[in-house]
Amino acid sequence: MKTADMKHVPQSIGDTILQKMVRVAYHAFNFVTGYDHADPPTSAIGYRLIILESVAGVPGMLGGMFRHFRSLRQLERDHGFIFTLLEEAENERMHLIVCMSFFEAGPFTRFIVQAGQVGLTPFLAGLYLIRPQLLHRFVGYLEETAVHTYTNIVQMTNSPGTKLHTAWKDTPAPQAAIDYWQLPADAMWVDCLKRMLADESHHRDVNHAMASMSADEMFGEANPFIHEHKADYEAGVRRYTEAVLKRALADLDLQRTHTPDVLATKK
Ligand SMILES: [Fe+2]
Ligand SMILES: [Fe+2]
Repeated sequence: MKTADMKHVPQSIGDTILQKMVRVAYHAFNFVTGYDHADPPTSAIGYRLIILESVAGVPGMLGGMFRHFRSLRQLERDHGFIFTLLEEAENERMHLIVCMSFFEAGPFTRFIVQAGQVGLTPFLAGLYLIRPQLLHRFVGYLEETAVHTYTNIVQMTNSPGTKLHTAWKDTPAPQAAIDYWQLPADAMWVDCLKRMLADESHHRDVNHAMASMSADEMFGEANPFIHEHKADYEAGVRRYTEAVLKRALADLDLQRTHTPDVLATKK
């Protein structure tokens, strides 16, 4: 939330056009969905999150796919970028799945989601084909608006007297979210919103960083975010090892024989 107001300043005409496109789409979307920043109703939020998260899962998969084919075609290493992009796509899809365990999607929402995918996928692929950095810059600006929205939703949910606070102050987190982010069993819905906010701010930073790379940095040097995947992997191994050891110690206790009798006597 501390970085919610951090915005990338366009460095070229391309950046300016992409930023304007995202801002126009953002304000049009606010108007259509009836999103009032000062006190948004829950009805506007379910609809909004389902549509936004279903679109947000597209660019990471496209970027990862294009890099994968490039690596095959050019007979060259990828230097670890594909993983970051596919992980972003999966993370966005999990945001959608978490939202779906909480909100209902009617026929109209489903139609908009499908039309959005049909319309936006060629546009996003086109940006990548013109220049990969354009796709990342577009995603960076899109994520700035996502950070803005989630910050507002979290603040409103934590502010007594608002519609969101009334509706969600006692709402527990869905099980899908507890499993995915390994939240405590008593986590609340607002904790999920905070996790989604943290994810979106990370996507914003990663995509703006990639958009600012030269072609050589993007295709010839190591992914600067690769250490995060290593740290995640090591933390996962540590958690798994701890769980196995705890289970083994518990089993040891179960197998122990407690009896005052002598089990075998000498004749
Ligand atoms: Fe998301
Ligand atoms: Fe995102």
